[in-house]
Amino acid sequence: MPASRSVNAVTIEDLRRAARRRLPRVVFDYIDGGADGEITLRENSRAFERIGFRPRNAVAGGPCGMATTVLGERLELPFLLGPVGSSRLFYPRGECVAAAQASAAGTAYVLSTLSGCRLEDVRAASSGPVWYQVYLIGGREVAAKAIARAATAGFSALVLTIDTGVSGQRERDLRNGANALVSGNVFRMLPHAGQILARPRWLAGCLRDGGLMHFPNVVLPHGAPMHYADVAAALAQSSVAWSDIPWIRDVWKGPLVVKGVLTGDDARRAIDAGADAIVVSNHGGRQLDGVAPTIRALPEVMDAVNGRIEVLLDGGVRRGSDVVKALCLGARAVLIGRAYAYGLGAAGAAGVAKAIDILRGDIARTLRLLGCGDVASLDRSYVEAERTYAT
Ligand code: FNR
Repeated sequence: MPASRSVNAVTIEDLRRAARRRLPRVVFDYIDGGADGEITLRENSRAFERIGFRPRNAVAGGPCGMATTVLGERLELPFLLGPVGSSRLFYPRGECVAAAQASAAGTAYVLSTLSGCRLEDVRAASSGPVWYQVYLIGGREVAAKAIARAATAGFSALVLTIDTGVSGQRERDLRNGANALVSGNVFRMLPHAGQILARPRWLAGCLRDGGLMHFPNVVLPHGAPMHYADVAAALAQSSVAWSDIPWIRDVWKGPLVVKGVLTGDDARRAIDAGADAIVVSNHGGRQLDGVAPTIRALPEVMDAVNGRIEVLLDGGVRRGSDVVKALCLGARAVLIGRAYAYGLGAAGAAGVAKAIDILRGDIARTLRLLGCGDVASLDRSYVEAERTYAT
């Protein structure tokens, strides 16, 4: 019996509720929350709802093709598992667990710099493509070493995230005492400890897995991994500029993906800087609040790119129909973030498998009902976007 059958969920929202039941509030809100007033977080999903389909009915059926290629690699599904930092806090060895499930489903996993598992272990946990997402955290030398390690380990693409000049203000994290809880200072931790003690099953798993994770892919000059408490300050000192791309290119010879593009101008800059692909992303509404939902930004970016490189998209994808809409508007494939993070937090491997199954089933059904036999044939004619979406 596939592991996912043991998880009782019909939708990603069901997995979200299950994650809320298993995780301490501070961990659940870290996944679920966004920056400031969470306007962009909400709009990412709502913007998908405002796009209607234009089906072609009475079209002969049959199994629908879902496979695609991204940067020359075949994927059995038109979505990848995107970089989600601190996944090891959601479930023991979370990054290895998620990577293994991605490869079991025939798709790629993108490992965050801010992961709790060593990148070599994540590579070993997957038999499919794995990409490495890089922050220049800890400085250029530290990042360059991690990039070189990723190349040696066999990661097949590097994802450079450009929208985190400083960490967004996630108000839920502040209210939940997230900083105090990772400080290691008992007096600061105590007032917030109740939410942890209220989830003994999660706590037992976390303790068995070594307790509060470090960042083993951010190895500081003295040879130790970065501590959790130091990450926010380090991120603020690690912003990336287009001028960093040449030295990154010296260390990384494979495909380079720029993640965090929201305008045609930045898309053109990314191409000029030598990107092989871009991800239209607002970091899931976790960075600058008030920016456009990604599906609305996509047409402007597609026009600017004009077929020169591949365009991916993430943000707010909670149903397979959202994936289909993004493909109709030109995305090569979609990255999912919270959709699988909820599954991981709810039930580990079985939860991630369930999230993938839900989206796969949705996509297959949507294609059949649209009268489209293959994701490669999707185009603008299958959707009726609001006038603001048209270019
Ligand atoms: C993220 N995201 C992210 N992105 C990145 O480049 N590096 C990272 O370390 C993280 N960490 C992270 C943690 C958590 C808990 C979440 C939810 C997201 C952003 C992620 O890759 C992606 O852009 C969004 O998650 C997409 O939005 P949805 O699918 O979550 O709505």
